[in-house]
This record gives sequence, structure tokens and C-alpha cells, in this order.
Amino acid sequence: MDKLVVEGGNYLRGSLPVGGSKNTALPLMAASLLGGGSCTLTNIPNLKDVTTFAHVLRVAGAKVQFDPDTNELDVDASTVDYPEAPYDLVKKMRASFYMLGALLGRVGKARVSMPGGCSWGPRPVDLHIKGVKEFGASVELDQGYVIAEAPNGRLPGGSFKMEPSSVGATINLLLAAVRAKGGSRIENAAQEPDVVVFGEALKAMGAKIEGLGTETIEIEGVDVLDSVDFRNSADRIELGTYMILAAMAGEPGDTVRLNGAGTKFLGNAFRDVFRETGADFTSEGEGADSYVEIAVPDELKPVSITTAPYPGFPTDLQAQWTVLLSQTRGEATVKETIYKDRFRHIPELRRMGLMALQGDGQVDVYGNAELKGATVMSTDLRASVSLVMAGIVAEGRTDVLRVYHLDRGYEELEHKLSDAGIDIRREEYDPQEAEPQRAAELPT
Ligand code: UD1
Repeated sequence: MDKLVVEGGNYLRGSLPVGGSKNTALPLMAASLLGGGSCTLTNIPNLKDVTTFAHVLRVAGAKVQFDPDTNELDVDASTVDYPEAPYDLVKKMRASFYMLGALLGRVGKARVSMPGGCSWGPRPVDLHIKGVKEFGASVELDQGYVIAEAPNGRLPGGSFKMEPSSVGATINLLLAAVRAKGGSRIENAAQEPDVVVFGEALKAMGAKIEGLGTETIEIEGVDVLDSVDFRNSADRIELGTYMILAAMAGEPGDTVRLNGAGTKFLGNAFRDVFRETGADFTSEGEGADSYVEIAVPDELKPVSITTAPYPGFPTDLQAQWTVLLSQTRGEATVKETIYKDRFRHIPELRRMGLMALQGDGQVDVYGNAELKGATVMSTDLRASVSLVMAGIVAEGRTDVLRVYHLDRGYEELEHKLSDAGIDIRREEYDPQEAEPQRAAELPT
């Protein structure tokens, strides 16, 4: 297994590239199944989740080619003939469940394994299933699989109000509805940029969609969708992660530049609290040549956050914010309203000296923490990057074990950070030796 070894105490300097969005790339790949021909997607990050999902598409019969050097992904969907997403793949990555909508939309039927929970608690898919039923699919559960079928091969369409608003369910329902026979409506739809950009790609393929980025999305089904060449957006969570890191690990008075992303998709809440800490940023453009420049403050102020759907503070940035708070001179609270148990990183960060009090759905973080290096265990994607960040500002050496979690969502992290002045390297280790009894208690 791989681990990351960080020697703390170096400033983050210069510039880092931000890759394409993982959470937008996956629905774009699902969308590419809906046209009968070949789609080319660019700015696709070279991540484990992307290669896993490429495999899911191949199982359905698509021909997929990914060039990690150019970040270009080609999908030839003309050969899709097997409407199934097997357990082996869905258990590796929940987003494989997008195959429910994609296959219903493309071939009128789907047999997709139910995903399990995840390391921070249950993550239901009830809204996905209720939604496709409302759009006219017959659905039954058999041996852990959802078997869905459209009458006479095409969904009639319908109306569905989701509560709470769900990114994944909105994506699945869009996939199912764009080639339906009739019109559909999604109420309380997710307004996340990932949904909007994915919806724009569907529109470029010929889909008729109104209301993207608002609470109500209306879709008029079309008979055929075209192939498309589409550029994926930058990863707003990777950008936010590096902004937080620059603010706390940059040299006071210096600037750090993040290339390949703009701040448009960060949401107001993040932009506002980031500035309240005393850090600042300027930004230019949104495409390939865009950048964000962070001005590192002399001192960070503690600022409390509450996670919320877009444009609220993203749940995918709260673990990183916790580490930033430990470097401020005061006390602030991280409140999680989307996944109340998403705090698996706290016990690991405590082992490095984090002072925090955990309550129901929230953590009070005390500043002035003098973090010390330790051997710590990744538990999920965003938790693992928070451990790396803590290692960067800690004294001494930190070994972050089980970085396969991190590899799902951060492209070339150790290379990007090394190029920006951080002492970090990847090493192989034997889990039997390096992971004491605690290993048995943690999810693999
Ligand atoms: C997506 C992101 C994930 C992010 C999350 C919230 C991807 C691949 N993943 O996950 O990184 O943390 O959005 O921004 O894009 N819910 C239900 N029933 C459902 C579906 C969801 O009750 O059928 C609830 C969830 O438990 C949660 C809330 O809805 O409390 C939001 O979850 P959702 O937006 O669906 O998250 P994902 O799409 O799984």
C-alpha cells in the first residue's frame, strides 16, 4: 500500500495547477452514453474514480480511451448493449449509480447494484429511485440490485420534488429524462456547478433543459442526442483546498498562484469566510488560462462555518477548514448540516495535537495548536487531504497511511506540492507492520 510522508515546516510557494473537476467529469462521462456516437471530453483529471468509471462504461459496452498526458477522454457509445453496473464497481465508487439514469435514458432499462454506506455514515439513494419511478420507470429490488425498466423502451417523463436537494439524484434524473418521450420537472433540484456544467453538456448534445442552476429544472425529452466535444470545468474543491492551504502554509506577505481555475464556482459562502480570515485573493478568467492568486495574511482570524448546499460552504471543504482553524488565534466552530457524522478526521488530527471538542454535527476548534507529526490513517477522500495539510504545518514527520482514498480525488498531489516547496514523498508500506490494531476498526 502507499503512504505520503510529509516533513513539516516548509512554506507553500510559487504556483500549483488545479485539474479538472472530478465531480463534474463523472456525470459528463455518463452523459456521453446518451448519444449514439463518440464524445470527446477534455480537462478530465487522471484519478482513480475516473478510471473506475471508465471501466463501468466499458462493462455497458462503450469503447473508452483516456490519455492521462492530455487529460482527454473519448467515449464511443455506439456499441452500448449491456444495461448493467455490477456490484464490484459500484462498491468502489458510489457515482457508478449514475448508470441508473444513463442506461434508462439510453436503452430503456438498467440493472445497477445498490451502493453501500460510506465511511462517515449512510448515504441513501432513495431519491434517485423514487425519482425514476415518478418519471415512469418500473423499479424492483433483487439481490442487492435495482432493476428499472421504461415502458416500451422510453420513459414517459413526470414530476418529482426532492427533499433534501441531492446532487446525485438531480444528475440521475436529468440523465433519465433528456431522452424521455415527454416532459419532466425536477423541483428542489441541486444548484451545484457540477450539475449546471453537466446540464450544459447535455444541452450541447441537443437536450432541451430550462432552469439549470435554479430550484426547478424542466426537461423536454428529445428522440436523439448528438455527440459532443466538451471541456470539463476546473475542480472547485481542489481549488478551495489549495486556497486554504496557501492561507495557512504560505509565507506571510507572500502570494501563491493557483493556475487553471477561477473562483466563479466556489460559491459566495466560501469566498466570504475566506476573506474574513484575513487572507485575500484576486482572480482572472475561468478557462484554461485562468488563475487565482492568494495573498497570505500575517495572521489568520478564526471564522466559523456551516456546510450547506451550493452556494453555501461545501461539505467537501470542511475537514480542510478545520486544519486552518487550528492555526488561528482563537476558537471557531465547524457545523456540518449535510453529513452529520462526517468527522472521521478529527480523532486522527487530535493525534497530531488538534484541540477540538466534538458535539452533535459540529466541532469546536481551538486555535494556537502546535501540531506535531504522527502516523495517521486516511478514512476518506477529503479527510485524507486534511491530514496532509496538517502534516505541512506540523513540526516533524507525518506519515499519512492509506492514501488510496486521496488518490480518488487529488491528481498528482505530491508532485504539485513538491513543486511548490513542500517536502512530501510517496512510499510503499506493509499495512501488517505499519497499521497497528486500529486497522481492524477502520473501513478499507
Ligand atoms: C455529491 C458529491 C460529494 C459531496 C456531496 C454534497 C459527487 C460524486 N459527490 O455527493 O462529493 O460531498 O455531493 O455536496 O458529486 N440524500 C438522501 N437521499 C438520496 C440522496 C441523497 O437523503 O437519495 C441526502 C444525503 O444523505 C445528504 C444530502 O441528500 O444528506 C445531499 O447528498 P447528495 O447531494 O446526494 O450527495 P452526492 O450526490 O452523493
